[in-house]
Amino acid sequence: MTVKKPLPGDLEPIETASRDEISALQLERLKWSVRHTYDNVEPYRRKCLEKGVHPDDLKTLSDLGKFPFMTKLDLRDNYPFGLFAVPRNKIARLHASSGTTGKSVVVGYTQKDIDNWASVVARSIRAAGGRAGDMVHVAYGYGMFTGGLGAHYGAEKLGCIAVPMSGGQTEKQVQQIMDFKPEIIMVTPSYSLVIAEEFERLGIKPEEISLKVGIFGAEPWGEGMRHEIERKLGIDAIDIYGLTEVMGPGVACECIETKDGPVIWEDHFYPEIIDPETGEVLPDGEEGELVFTSLTKEAFPVIRYRTRDLTRLLPPTARSFRRIGKITGRSDDMLIIRGVNVFPTQIEEQILRDQRLAGNYQVVVTRDGHMDNLEVRCEVQRELSGKLSATDIQQISKELQHRIKTIIGVSTKITVMEYDSIPRTQVGKAKRVLDERPKQN
Ligand code: DLL
Repeated sequence: MTVKKPLPGDLEPIETASRDEISALQLERLKWSVRHTYDNVEPYRRKCLEKGVHPDDLKTLSDLGKFPFMTKLDLRDNYPFGLFAVPRNKIARLHASSGTTGKSVVVGYTQKDIDNWASVVARSIRAAGGRAGDMVHVAYGYGMFTGGLGAHYGAEKLGCIAVPMSGGQTEKQVQQIMDFKPEIIMVTPSYSLVIAEEFERLGIKPEEISLKVGIFGAEPWGEGMRHEIERKLGIDAIDIYGLTEVMGPGVACECIETKDGPVIWEDHFYPEIIDPETGEVLPDGEEGELVFTSLTKEAFPVIRYRTRDLTRLLPPTARSFRRIGKITGRSDDMLIIRGVNVFPTQIEEQILRDQRLAGNYQVVVTRDGHMDNLEVRCEVQRELSGKLSATDIQQISKELQHRIKTIIGVSTKITVMEYDSIPRTQVGKAKRVLDERPKQN
């Protein structure tokens, strides 16, 4: 598509403000947020007292480093409403993140929080090239997951037509896209490939699809996946980041004119990168764990919340705010295979370097005695399915095995399968890793 560069007046003044202006606003809001949390969230106040810090100690932005972290454990321990900072009658909505084990995490929003959230999502859609009047097909799940409703309210706030399709019913998704002709789709990257496959199955070419932009997030995806989606749907693929605990989608979003990593909406969310082992704050540019402090949230403020996402802070480009690099993985997604740290996205990158392979894959870990085994299951592209000889398949496997061994450093068994052999996720996030090792007690 022709990239819509923002026109003067398109952007909010803060998006092009100077660093000094941004820092001044952040400090003012940070002081409010820390005090609000300290005064109204008893478990947080206790943590501060234990550490010997008080909101009055916050005189500069870097003083934040003296304050205690919040972790998922704090959220679980205070389930469901123990970390809410406003009385129940001020809460307008609840959301939850399912989590893989144990209780889900519950978060609350006041009406003002909902309005701010819609504003940052509207800003995100605009950064992705959307404008008032565009139609936005929302295929993130609606419900307790923040994806569907978060995207929906943002689209409406920007003046777009929101189509609350939710996940699943792939044939209907495609039919509706053909009939309604939306310009924008918001969906997980893995499910967008399922939709793209349905278009392919019906013989519909990318240029016959009305979509111009896709806004993808909720799970890690790399540059290889971006190219795959762009090619298959004939769109620009934009990365949107967020998490339930901090707000939902729209904590950060890429700009279409640069596509160089999500811009953090730093007037609402203050980022830090820390060493995940020591907790020490790292300088911009260094890779570590992303930590967020909410600056405007009333109902569920978070102070130094450890996201577990590993990435870097990058300097501003298309906007005055800093960006995050690609999320290379979550510290809890990391597999340790015979002593080597492996992230599923690293494997994805190597698979997609071969144009003959499709973007759907699975990593299976098993244990044989004391030995961990890693199997990578991948699929050939639809147009090649059933057409490759055994020698071709063997060649693809050997090359992929070699790339993974030399670049990531682990030996793998590669299984190249026919197209559509690996289960697709219709709703929610793709399950890339099957860890079949016996649980350690
Ligand atoms: O996934 C919120 C969301 C919905 C974001 C729709 C974007 C689009 P949770 O279910 O709480 O919230 O999961 C948050 O998902 O900590 C990351 O590990 C991962 N994640 C989210 N966006 C991205 C992204 C929503 N763009 C967790 N790239 C986060 C990589 C992402 N990982």
